[in-house]
Amino acid sequence: MRNSTLIEPSRPPAWPLMNNNITREDLDALIGFLQQENPILTQSAQVLAFEREWSKWLGVQYSVFVNSGSSANLLTMAALRQLRGPGEVIVPTLTWVSDIASVLHCGFKPVFVDINPRTLGMDIEQVITKLSARTRAVFLTHILGYNGLNQRLLDELERRNIPLIEDVCESHGATFGGRKLGTYSLMSNFSFYYAHHLTTIEGGMVCTNDAHLYEVIRMLRSHGMVRESTSEKFKQQHRHQHPDLNPDFIFAFPAWNVRSTELNAVMGRNQLKRLDDNNQRRTENLLLFLENLDSEKYQTDFATEGSSNYAFTLILQQPDKALRDRVESALRKQGIEFRRGTSGGGNQLRQPYLKALFGEKECLNFPRVDHVHFYGFYIGNYPDLTRENILELCALLNSL
Ligand SMILES: Cc1ncc(COP(=O)(O)O)c(C=O)c1O
Repeated sequence: MRNSTLIEPSRPPAWPLMNNNITREDLDALIGFLQQENPILTQSAQVLAFEREWSKWLGVQYSVFVNSGSSANLLTMAALRQLRGPGEVIVPTLTWVSDIASVLHCGFKPVFVDINPRTLGMDIEQVITKLSARTRAVFLTHILGYNGLNQRLLDELERRNIPLIEDVCESHGATFGGRKLGTYSLMSNFSFYYAHHLTTIEGGMVCTNDAHLYEVIRMLRSHGMVRESTSEKFKQQHRHQHPDLNPDFIFAFPAWNVRSTELNAVMGRNQLKRLDDNNQRRTENLLLFLENLDSEKYQTDFATEGSSNYAFTLILQQPDKALRDRVESALRKQGIEFRRGTSGGGNQLRQPYLKALFGEKECLNFPRVDHVHFYGFYIGNYPDLTRENILELCALLNSL
């Protein structure tokens, strides 16, 4: 007899937000690893190897593997707080919740800016006008694969000695000036959640060229423990300063446990081998999508130079509610999964956690992000989409 309390699993969408991101090959790599005699499963040699391979792929000195992109956000903000003390952090209005939550959790005041519609990233001119003696960092998100940096921002931050932190969780492999995003900042964050370019099921990375920050991030990842540092000098100093403590248990910072495991690292190492090829396919897909979309109805002038997108960005040219409803119902009918508001669900200042701090009306001061909030979507872009799939999607959207 059917158990009426069981929830029927819903039918998977014909065109999900992400498809086949974990392959048979990845699973076989895990099985091979587990077949060893007594494999170590907690953070060990595989994690270190993945960190080194990732650093080489990205072009940085150091990487620290953690259990999510949100944990990466949290650790960079905690390290910034150690380094620069309290103050303001300039943040986007279009980003993921953890980019703002981490700022709040570390006791900073977030200062918001509107978006540049072509990059969906921060409006750089607004960032520059909001820099002040209180600014501790600019925490910039590269949205859905588009580069959000420009030289003017980099020059201005260097001139004022204000650190840049890049969130590259949605943009693995994207470049600016021929160099990978995530290499321009004091620290950068990546997410390896299932829906992203590379997945470890869940996971994240903090990357830096700063040897001191590398040690701090390693300690913050693991309870703030001094023995996590790779610097003998640093460990000696602490032992010397705290002779009453067991050297194995010296906690330098109030921190967390956001470590990952060997299994996640095995998957990451295997995935890294095909990341560049996959990204190449995604870029071709995005360009085909934008070339064939009706530019009267939808925005097609995104800043695609150097982009690396796991999503198609679909933003209505006009605030046309009727067209938006037709788009949503046509996509649903065809089983094409989508997210309204694009990255993170749109204007963060409309979310209850920020309305409680900044009031009901603050969100209205950012009209460009509000347009994306109400009239923007993203649709999955993955390597095995065919040319026909993409052309059919454009024909459908253009007919509405
Ligand atoms: C820009 C951005 N930052 C951070 C995160 C958080 O990553 P995770 O889901 O791995 O915690 C996401 C998640 O999708 C994201 O899009």
